Amino acid sequence: PGNSLIKHYLQFKDLRAPEYEYLFQRAALVKQRFKNYEKYTPLVDRTLAMIFEKASTRTRVSFEAGMYQMGGSVVHLTTDGSQLGRSEPIEDSAKVISRMVDIVMIRTYEQTKLTKFAANSRVPVINGLTNEFHPCQILADIFTFIEHRGSIQGKVVAWVGDGNNMANTWLQAAELLGFTVHVSTPSGYEIDPTVAGIAGTDCYKVFQDPMDACRGADLVTTDVWTSMGYEAENEARKKAFADWCVDADMMAVAKPDALFMHCLPAHRGEEVEAEVIDGPQSVVWDEAENRMHVQKVLMEYLLLGRIG
Ligand code: CP
Ligand code: NVA
Repeated sequence: PGNSLIKHYLQFKDLRAPEYEYLFQRAALVKQRFKNYEKYTPLVDRTLAMIFEKASTRTRVSFEAGMYQMGGSVVHLTTDGSQLGRSEPIEDSAKVISRMVDIVMIRTYEQTKLTKFAANSRVPVINGLTNEFHPCQILADIFTFIEHRGSIQGKVVAWVGDGNNMANTWLQAAELLGFTVHVSTPSGYEIDPTVAGIAGTDCYKVFQDPMDACRGADLVTTDVWTSMGYEAENEARKKAFADWCVDADMMAVAKPDALFMHCLPAHRGEEVEAEVIDGPQSVVWDEAENRMHVQKVLMEYLLLGRIG
């Protein structure tokens, strides 16, 4: 089972800054090939297993379409449709699945479940979202920022809303790639900087008022008020988050050329007003599409190393 030489992608800090530089350049190239209808199949005969313990639209489609485009194939597993839902130990599942496929993507609850799987896997494992982190999304978001505005180094990202998996991943990315996150969450839903491992660093600043977090930002971003797995808190969260709706006033205090991002799915009138997400500063559709391009090069990198 476990092999410490295997490269996994379990959290954003599993790769270093030069590796991100390579991935972003490569993603631009592979995206261009896709747009030109050029065949690019470096993963012929490779199989990706996708394990979903939570719902998904983007993650499923982007990994599945991406793998087929690169010449590979996919196996799709869910909790209910597999023995995972009938309490087969995650360690046993990892040993079995990783003997038959070349790479695994998992969307699950606790990060520890993912690390247990990885520790027992013979092949690379990718985090497709856990309660703690969503690294593939931030990979896509930063690639999207670079496409529209160039390097993110030295920039300010305003995080408005829940101190959740997306917030934690932005914090790791800020520490690693040299930008700052201005965080504003309702009380009771704060970030825990120890989760991202960035406590005591200056990669983030906390603001009570979301307007203050957005002031001068290069990018304003938010996420659902209730993440998957927290549905029982929905009503309490609706009350607590009422003032954390990204609206035109918040965008107006950000830089004039600030972008708006949201990992989606979105709830217009809750975490974001329709005029913002459907407005000219929003790049949410590019963000969603870019999931596929960055994950293609991530899988290529984990399986084949650097190319070119
Ligand atoms: N942003 C994202 O991960 O979307 P899905 O939940 O649809 O996969
Ligand atoms: N924070 C959200 C992101 C969904 C893509 C969740 O975990 O449900």
